[in-house]
Amino acid sequence: MKIIRIEKVRASQDLNGILTIEQECFKEGFSGSVFYYFSELVPDSFVVAKTKEDVVVGYCLGINSQSNSSQAWVVSIAVHPKFRKIGIGTKLLQAVIKVIEKNAEVILLTVRPSNKMAIRFYQKHHFKISSNLPNLYGNESSRHIMKREKIK
Ligand SMILES: CC(C)(COP(=O)(O)OP(=O)(O)OC[C@H]1O[C@@H](n2cnc3c(N)ncnc32)[C@H](O)[C@@H]1OP(=O)(O)O)[C@@H](O)C(=O)NCCC(=O)NCCS
Repeated sequence: MKIIRIEKVRASQDLNGILTIEQECFKEGFSGSVFYYFSELVPDSFVVAKTKEDVVVGYCLGINSQSNSSQAWVVSIAVHPKFRKIGIGTKLLQAVIKVIEKNAEVILLTVRPSNKMAIRFYQKHHFKISSNLPNLYGNESSRHIMKREKIK
């Protein structure tokens, strides 16, 4: 695998790189200000993958639920298309799970039913489709909820 480091996000250095990936990967991604808030709010469970030249090639963001202490969420994950299928997504997801799972029994996430690549990726990481979010705004808005029980 290319030499890639996984480390905690540093907003001042990483936000531009994260936004570039976000725009490349999602039609309606998060804005820079949303990423900035999360980098302040949950600095331990927001990680980036960087090349040895310090180029951000992926990120993953997780949070522990504020309303249910047994739950945590993987909010988002993305890897630059040129760096996929070499294990970077796995390393990012594992780094975030390690942090959020300390205080949670269940990890949840949402994914578009059409995003087969991501669903297969999550299934390899022991997430199972558990329910569906209501289709409030048309087909594009429907989501599976996927759930991973803590592996003891
Ligand atoms: C989902 C996503 C983050 C996965 O990232 P990734 O870096 O490609 O993930 P990995 O490389 O760890 O695993 C992906 C696949 O590569 C395979 N792989 C991993 N390392 C490999 C290697 N060294 N050689 C060959 N294959 C390998 C994995 O087995 C996995 O196979 P699968 O697709 O058949 O399940 C990435 O596809 C992505 O950014 N998608 C767009 C954004 C997105 O949809 N995010 C999720 C929103 S809910």
